[in-house]
Amino acid sequence: MSEFISLLDKEFKLYFTAQEIGSKVKSIAQKMNQDLESLDPVFIAVLNGAFFFACDLLKEIHIPFEITFVKVASYDGLQSKGTIKTLMGLDESLKDRNVVVLEDIVDSGFTMKYLIEELQKMEVASVKIASLLVKPSTMKHPLEIHYTGFEVPDVFLVGYGLDYHKKGRNYKNIYILNSE
Ligand code: IMP
Ligand code: MG
Repeated sequence: MSEFISLLDKEFKLYFTAQEIGSKVKSIAQKMNQDLESLDPVFIAVLNGAFFFACDLLKEIHIPFEITFVKVASYDGLQSKGTIKTLMGLDESLKDRNVVVLEDIVDSGFTMKYLIEELQKMEVASVKIASLLVKPSTMKHPLEIHYTGFEVPDVFLVGYGLDYHKKGRNYKNIYILNSE
């Protein structure tokens, strides 16, 4: 396993190994199997970033559930833009359903706040948030995150679904921008 990777003009250093990520994802799934057993939840994976997390997590969920996807974007390169673009919306009725949003990383919280408001307009019964990574120090909107994989400082990460200018989503490990 290489300690460093290069993407475009930047170098990144190993931060979380695939093994560390795998055991964290399993422990989140175990908790969900208990918490959500009688709720027939609908998981909503936020594309593009959450596709690895959703894929690995849902393989470990053994209660009845449904999965759907939404595609939103608030990031451009290394910075959160603070505005949301909806690229692919929710196309089914979630009224009275128990929803769990699956996200790769919560940074400012704009994306999550926007999604929660959209879901509340659809009159869902409940919304829970599961994010593999959370940056508490950069969060501008107070959010209750029910399932957190790792809390991280204000750093820029790639791999396991996370990208730098659309590159690097395919790595099994998570890497940190080397100057940080
Ligand atoms: P927020 O709306 O500022 O909370 O940003 C959330 C979105 O920004 C995430 O879904 C990611 O797609 C992206 N993002 C935030 N931090 C990082 C990072 O460190 N690396 C790559 N993408 C990130
Ligand atoms: Mg994302």
